[in-house]
Amino acid sequence: MKKSQLIAGNWKMNGSLAANEALVRAVVAGLAGGGAACRVAVCVPSPYLAQVRSLCEGSALELGAQDVSRHGQGAYTGEVSAAMLEEFGVRYAIVGHSERRQYHGESDSVVADKARAALAHGITPIVCVGETLAEREAGQTASVVRRQLAAVIDAVGDGLARIVVAYEPVWAIGTGRTATPEQAQQVHAALRAQLRAATAQADGVAILYGGSMNAANAASLLAQPDIDGGLIGGASLKAPDFLQIIAAAH
Ligand code: PGA
Repeated sequence: MKKSQLIAGNWKMNGSLAANEALVRAVVAGLAGGGAACRVAVCVPSPYLAQVRSLCEGSALELGAQDVSRHGQGAYTGEVSAAMLEEFGVRYAIVGHSERRQYHGESDSVVADKARAALAHGITPIVCVGETLAEREAGQTASVVRRQLAAVIDAVGDGLARIVVAYEPVWAIGTGRTATPEQAQQVHAALRAQLRAATAQADGVAILYGGSMNAANAASLLAQPDIDGGLIGGASLKAPDFLQIIAAAH
């Protein structure tokens, strides 16, 4: 069964106590009155989880993290475990964002371990996949995203029905260059087929699009049959833009 769409903001390494308060208050005010037809979350830097959790209280806005350790606990300086995120009421954790794959050397198997760690604590991993411009131009888009998703499918077993996938072409992230709705739909359909081959509940797995989604292009992307929401970077930092994207979702 199709769930409502999911619009998730990815703040990346942006924010401050004052800026977060203004932003979240504006988003919560915009959602009040049950206006949103979709599910809405913000994935915030770890130090702000407690702040944003309390700002979201009593609202429809859900809390997400941007990463999670693949380890349970112990000597992993700088890492944050899924158990810790769970204590802060985190519902979603982005795993395998291209910035983590690129700047932190995260392999497909590390990303898969992170997805499994999140699921073990009732946290929905938002598993990011996507090709670079060079890979697209070499005709490798389908094989790259298939390989990235396959690692997660192999690792999570029955948890597959509880993941969210985000297709984020690397060349579209933060560049203002969006995949066309047709380009995105083509990849989403391939990801859906791959999920269907692995679980009977594939149609309930949300596949988000991410990469320069904004107030102007959201509606046409979100109208595609296999696009179930968006992972929004830059436009999630401005409440009016984020709310316009939410209004375009169903
Ligand atoms: P963008 O980022 O919307 O700023 O392109 C999306 C993302 O990286 O998740």
